[in-house]
Amino acid sequence: MPDKEQALETVLTEYQKEKGSLIPVLQQAQAIQGYLSKPVMSRIAERLGIYESDVYGVATFYTQFRFTPLGKNIVKVCHGTACHVNGAEGISDSLCRHLKVKEGETTEDGKFTTERVACLGCCSLAPVVMINEETYGRLTSDKVKKILDRY
Ligand code: FES
Repeated sequence: MPDKEQALETVLTEYQKEKGSLIPVLQQAQAIQGYLSKPVMSRIAERLGIYESDVYGVATFYTQFRFTPLGKNIVKVCHGTACHVNGAEGISDSLCRHLKVKEGETTEDGKFTTERVACLGCCSLAPVVMINEETYGRLTSDKVKKILDRY
């Protein structure tokens, strides 16, 4: 059994008899896989003895869960107060238009996943975007497009 399969199996075995364990199971399954795939959702429903539609109902309610794999590069767009005041919405719009995704989605080629986040801790550089571990500040729509092209 591959490592991820084994880890998921351990989680399911541990929680299958516990009532109200759906959220922690979903969280751990996502931590193992990076996202919640269809087969994993079916397996969770089967093992916890609940309808698959109910598993989806709960999982889609919370923004922490994702149903597609993460992209190669994670683009965090700061929407904290300082960034908001300095045009974060415009940066986000232009970035999403350029990548042809909505915030929270992954591009079709799997290269980028965008995320809306709260303060990244460098407000003096607002508006700020973080790509993987790299922070880019004092952004404009043009700058953000040029930065994305480097990846
Ligand atoms: S509000 Fe964006 S870095 Fe603080």
